[in-house]
Amino acid sequence: MNKKIIIGSDHAGFNLKNKLIQFIENKGIEIDDAGTYSTESCDYPKIAKEVAEKISSKEYEKGILVCGTGIGMSIAANKIKGIRAAVVSDTCSAKMSRMHNNSNILCLGERIVGEELAKDITEIWLNTDFLGERHARRVDMIE
Ligand code: RB5
Repeated sequence: MNKKIIIGSDHAGFNLKNKLIQFIENKGIEIDDAGTYSTESCDYPKIAKEVAEKISSKEYEKGILVCGTGIGMSIAANKIKGIRAAVVSDTCSAKMSRMHNNSNILCLGERIVGEELAKDITEIWLNTDFLGERHARRVDMIE
């Protein structure tokens, strides 16, 4: 599977998205940008759908979605089969959403988390593996 990551945002997540792209690229990880490409107002469900469908179809393994709060993106992304999008604003939840929930989309709110915390969350989320076993049974139940 493509190890490249995909990221998307609406206008309210645009600035944080750009900072995260740079942060992730500096770590030697390839990342594709699904937009939006300016701070002009746009509709987050369209971006969430595009990113979520590309993960659902296994074009990408993981993605990141940024909006004002992370909430709208997560609600929209979780409508797509196979998507486990987690809104995260602390490092413990970032770790647990991977270990226990096998989250495949990280949702962040630019209006909620500061840049440095968002980078810490992203790094932990990218580097934490799913534990499987009893957690796999529960994730399967969701599917
Ligand atoms: C846009 O104003 C805002 O509603 C959006 O970015 C997001 O926070 C929705 O959940």
